[in-house]
Amino acid sequence: MVKKLIIDCDPGIDDAVALCMALFDPRLDVLAITSTAGNVESSQASKNVQTIVESLDPPRWPRLGTAPEGLFVGHANAKQIHGNDGLGNFNSQLSRLHHQHPSEKVITDVVRNAPGQVTVLCLGPLTNLALAFSRDPDLASMIDRVVIMGGSISGVGNVTATAEYNMFCDPEAAQTVFRSLVTKTLVPLEVSQQLTFNLSMLDELPDASTRAGNFLRNVLPFLFRSYRQVYGLEGIHLHDVVALIAALHPEFFETQDMAGDVETNGSLTRGATVFDRRSRPEWRINLEVAMKLDKQAVRDAIRESIRYAGQLTR
Ligand code: RIB
Ligand code: CA
Repeated sequence: MVKKLIIDCDPGIDDAVALCMALFDPRLDVLAITSTAGNVESSQASKNVQTIVESLDPPRWPRLGTAPEGLFVGHANAKQIHGNDGLGNFNSQLSRLHHQHPSEKVITDVVRNAPGQVTVLCLGPLTNLALAFSRDPDLASMIDRVVIMGGSISGVGNVTATAEYNMFCDPEAAQTVFRSLVTKTLVPLEVSQQLTFNLSMLDELPDASTRAGNFLRNVLPFLFRSYRQVYGLEGIHLHDVVALIAALHPEFFETQDMAGDVETNGSLTRGATVFDRRSRPEWRINLEVAMKLDKQAVRDAIRESIRYAGQLTR
């Protein structure tokens, strides 16, 4: 059964790798790619989504949604990791930005066209989904599942001491989505950081003569350099790619039903994800939280998906 998917993202190099995989996977029908500010500011995120789709030129172009202006404007941490343009300074020649509809409207339209059939994969701040829910209160009941890359179970963040980046960028939106009634899978940092990719990954990419190989060889090296400079690591994490695999292969992940929420105040804790793990929890269980992954199975699925993208972009 082909899975209908909307990908909401803030490209971002790991977002870009996930898009490259998803656009050519025969098990996915990517109906829309909607952009949000996060790793980069709104207009750059919208440009990056179009740049990625133009560079890869998939057999079926998804609908594209424009990131809402005037919200989060990117964070110094992200620019260090993903480059000023968000794609490792991939100097693509973007044709003029196509006229696009706002992301939250595209999400609403696509879900309403296929009630109960669409998975929304959220790879950036949850701004657009929260806007869609406030615009259309019935929408949450019409989405099959939301898979979210974000949060931290242990309370150890990656942008502050307590907050993971996607939650930190828009905690109010994250809280709205967490408190909604839609079925949600959360892929937190503890799981997305279980896989580290080393430089040998670059040697295994599709040939540069393929569109996928050329694109990935242009954007990925920057991430290896930034992880070494910023984190002192000789490998990278591909958080959004792991979240994509969680949407494609839930069987590779162990999940636990949990009651979670997002701190929206607190000078030290804004954006932190908090879970009620008391012996008698009082909060409503609202999340399936990925706790562990089958490393080899996920690695193989990623390798296979990238290889496939190369084959289809010769
Ligand atoms: O914390 C990791 C998340 O923040 C990823 O989605 C990455 O792209 C950034 O958006
Ligand atoms: Ca992202």
